[in-house]
Amino acid sequence: MRRHSLSAAAAAFIICISSLSAIAGVIEDRKANFKANNTSMRAIGEALSFDDFDAVVGEAEKIAAWAMVMPDYFPEGSGEGTSAKPAIWSDFAGFKNAAAANHEAARDLIKAAQSEDAAQVGAALKALGASCKACHQKFKSW
Ligand code: HEC
Repeated sequence: MRRHSLSAAAAAFIICISSLSAIAGVIEDRKANFKANNTSMRAIGEALSFDDFDAVVGEAEKIAAWAMVMPDYFPEGSGEGTSAKPAIWSDFAGFKNAAAANHEAARDLIKAAQSEDAAQVGAALKALGASCKACHQKFKSW
């Protein structure tokens, strides 16, 4: 009996440790994806100055794809020691809406780039940047 409860405790400990390292992994992954967002935004700005609409589409596709799965990278309990605000979990629906708005804005940029209208692409890029900022203002602390 005693042996049994000891091994149950050991199992619980192992589960706890492995979920902690799963959280560390998910934080690392989301940070890498946000850094890639920055790289894409910069690349889009550059591509636009060369009227390279294909490159704009390619980078905007990456942003759209990340926006689709972004909320999955914010499991409960993954805020500690990061710049993710507790508001993410007290208003997860709002956070998901902000990610959906970011996705929509990236899709709009893709459509604009496909139309090869530089002025429209410029406006869509601005709107996309605003959707990043809108989420950061509500859900990111620094
Ligand atoms: C739905 C909300 C949301 C959207 C949309 C969003 N972000 Fe963020 N972003 C966050 C949160 C929350 C963090 C903090 C993550 C953490 O510290 O774990 C973050 C962190 C970052 C970071 C810092 C990453 C690091 O290394 O710590 C960068 C850079 C960034 N975002 C860029 C962007 C860009 C560019 C866009 C738009 C293309 C964008 N984000 C869209 C919520 C969002």
